[in-house]
Formats: sequence, C-alpha cells, structure tokens
Amino acid sequence: MEITITKAKELKPKPADESKLGFGKLFTDHMFNMDYAPDEGWHNPRIEPYASFQMDPATMVLHYGQAIFEGLKGYRTEAGHIQLFRPQENFHRSNSSNRLLCIPEIDEKFALNALKQLITVEKDWVPSAPGTSLYIRPTVIATDVFLGVRASSTYRFFIILSPVGAYYPGGFNPVKIWVSTRHVRAVRGGVGEAKTPGNYAASLHAGDQAQKRGYTQVLWLDGVEQKYVEEVGSMNIFFVIGGELVTPALNGSILPGVTRDSVIALARLWGIPCTERRVAIREVLDAQIQGQSVEVFGTGTAAVISPVGIIKFGNEVVEIGDNEVGPVTERFYKELTDIQYGRAEDPLGWIEPVC
Ligand code: COI
Repeated sequence: MEITITKAKELKPKPADESKLGFGKLFTDHMFNMDYAPDEGWHNPRIEPYASFQMDPATMVLHYGQAIFEGLKGYRTEAGHIQLFRPQENFHRSNSSNRLLCIPEIDEKFALNALKQLITVEKDWVPSAPGTSLYIRPTVIATDVFLGVRASSTYRFFIILSPVGAYYPGGFNPVKIWVSTRHVRAVRGGVGEAKTPGNYAASLHAGDQAQKRGYTQVLWLDGVEQKYVEEVGSMNIFFVIGGELVTPALNGSILPGVTRDSVIALARLWGIPCTERRVAIREVLDAQIQGQSVEVFGTGTAAVISPVGIIKFGNEVVEIGDNEVGPVTERFYKELTDIQYGRAEDPLGWIEPVC
C-alpha cells in the first residue's frame, strides 16, 4: 500500500524555548491516518495536515471505549539524526491490545514504515534540548455509528506527534506515591494488559485522591487480595532489595512495558540478579523499615526511569532510601537514555534509525 502525502499549506511556529515543552500539549503539523472497512481491510493510508476529526455523536468509541493506543519516542542524536527506540515492540504490543479489544490487526512493518515517513516529514519538530524528545501516539478507534454493544466493523488508525520534555514537572527527582487500598486498576481476565483508554479512565478517581493528598501517582495492588504490587499510574515498577532487582511478573493485569522489558534485559546484560515474581507491598516496606538497602523506581516511555522517594500505604508513610535517587536507579536512567539518544553503544540492537 502506498502512503499518500499531502503537505500543510501553513506550518505552525516551532517552540521558541524547548526547555518549557512539558508533556503532550503541543502537536506537529501533520498526522498519519488509515481506515478499516470489512470489505477493504486497512486502506487509504495517508499523511496529511493535523486536523480535528468530525464525528457523529453516536460513534462507538465515544460510548464503549473500543480503542487502543501506544506511546513511543523519537530522539535527536548529537549529530542531528533522528532515531526510535524499539518501535517494533510497540507495534507488536498494539496488535496484542487490538486482539483483546476485537480490533483488526495492523501489519507491524507497514505501521513502522508509515511512522518513519511521518517523522521524516516532521523532522524539524524533533527537539534537541537536553531531556526532550518527540512523543509518538499511535491510536485505533472504533468508528461505526451505532449504539448496540458489539465490536465495531470500521476503524480509524492514526498517529500524532508531540515534542515533549519531562513527563513529571519535577524531572528526574523522587516522586511520592500512594498505595490504593480501596480501588483496583484491573483484574486478571480483564483488559489490564492492553493499552486501552478504559484502564486509564479507571485510574482517574484514585489518581485524583492521591493528588489531593500531595502524591504524584497511585501504586496499584492486585485486584483479588490487594496485597501484591501491580504497577504505578503510567509506569511499571521495580524494586532493588538487597542488591536484587525485582519487578511484578506479567500476570495478565499488568501492562507489558517496553521500558520494563529493556530494564530487565540491561540488568541481565550487566549481571544484576533480576527476578519477575509476585511482590507484596509489605515485603518492600518491611525491607526498608528493617534497614535493608532499598530503591524503588518506575519505568515507562513517557516517564523513562522515575525514582520513587516516598510510599504511603494506609497510615504508614515510608521514606525510600532517604528520598534520594539510588545508584542502581541512576545507572538505569543514564545508560538507557544514553542508548536512546545515541550517546552510547546499542548493545542489544534496539535503535531504529529514521533520518
Ligand atoms: C507512555 O509511557 O507512553 C504512556 O502511554 C503513559 C501515558 C499514559 C502518558
């Protein structure tokens, strides 16, 4: 399938000060669109000026949330080139989400090629200030105009691009997280492992409660016993306990993060013992309280590596590692971002050059 390209007649001004980008507020001049119909399959792939969608109020995605999305980033290297980090993994995961949400799969190589063409058109939007990148949001939405509950027969796949700085306004500094003992994000057998908007909608109420109490994110426990750690707001979670790296095993209700997988792979490469298993929140807090060396950090495309300094669980407020960034967390942050920005060797073949 050939991708048609229609260029915008007028281009928006680029940000004057890249250090003030923030996250997800500004979008580039063009986007990628492609449609699905049962008799045509995925068709009409096109790069065209960024524009609003006109939608019938009865469009299915607006009512039943049949949609999936991804998040990945493009990085500008010191030499001025643009590269992606493990984009194949994102398009692969989006097809896992598609299957769970009854959305037709998309050819992964085709989607990556479309993204590379879009970024090439938008290359001047990729920022170069330290810590900035181009956040990429591929999304699929159900587009039938119908109010019965069933899978849609038509879909729109689109990709939008947003130059971004740090996800958390505090940058690479420890965040405070609040363990939800009342609400759960997902249960096994549901869609917790899919990147689908409903999982994020389900997290908003507890997120709001956490924010009102001065915490940045919610740490979710398992939906059955409410004992074992699952993930944090927009990130997977890791613990360093007595020199061992531990993260909750993927059990069906946890998002299989690409950054999560990269941290595990780097740990194995460096010879740091790393285990994926059930982790009780009590085990982590007790290790810290009993004076073991503990580090906690979140991982995600948007959040990168995000140190956790304080955990609130019920009435307990536990400070992790003196609320400072620990050496293991720092090493993952540095080495991962060095690979992503092309400052270091790419030992595991993760970099996909664009232009
Ligand atoms: C990402 O890290 O790319 C995410 O999708 C998290 C997000 C919901 C901001």
